[in-house]
Amino acid sequence: MNKEALQLIYQRRSIREFKQDQITNEQLDAVLKAGVLAPSAMNEQTPVIVAVQSQIYRDAVVELKSLGSDKDPFYGAPTIVIVFVPKRRYAALENAVAAQMNMMNAATAAGLASCWVHMPKEIFNQMEGKQLMYAWGLPDNMISVSAMAIGYQAGETPEMPERKKDYIIRV
Ligand SMILES: Cc1cc2nc3c(=O)[nH]c(=O)nc-3n(C[C@H](O)[C@H](O)[C@H](O)COP(=O)(O)O)c2cc1C
Repeated sequence: MNKEALQLIYQRRSIREFKQDQITNEQLDAVLKAGVLAPSAMNEQTPVIVAVQSQIYRDAVVELKSLGSDKDPFYGAPTIVIVFVPKRRYAALENAVAAQMNMMNAATAAGLASCWVHMPKEIFNQMEGKQLMYAWGLPDNMISVSAMAIGYQAGETPEMPERKKDYIIRV
């Protein structure tokens, strides 16, 4: 058993406080590679992963997600990664989630903090969302499934939220 690898998976927490420093390209590459190497149904590799680091696009994504509130839903993290999949493709959502989770675990292994940020598909249906998709070269039939905030952790690691007692049935 690779206890160190298991420990990294167990230690991952949703972090909601980030330093402003940008992560290195090496760290971003390591995270994105984990997304690309995630399993996908029938190996269709349906997800497209968008890494947002430029200030102008980061601001635009925050604007889209925050719906006018002045709270940053990405908690100030300097990198946002969004997973898109084509509409109505077999197991597309599952493929997106597999990529997302691989990347979050890779982020922990790369010494980074992360937090899953819900990205309902309707968000990119708005005109501003469509404009971003166009600028990023995404076809019109893609929908966002999830996003994550990534960066260096600021502040204390939160306690692990307690897990329910009946999570597992072993038969
Ligand atoms: C589908 C999904 C959506 C989530 N959306 C958000 C979100 O929008 N904002 C947020 O701060 N955390 C979000 N989370 C993180 C959960 O709140 C977090 O995983 C949960 O509280 C357990 O904490 P842990 O990740 O530290 O174990 C989301 C997690 C999942 C799986």
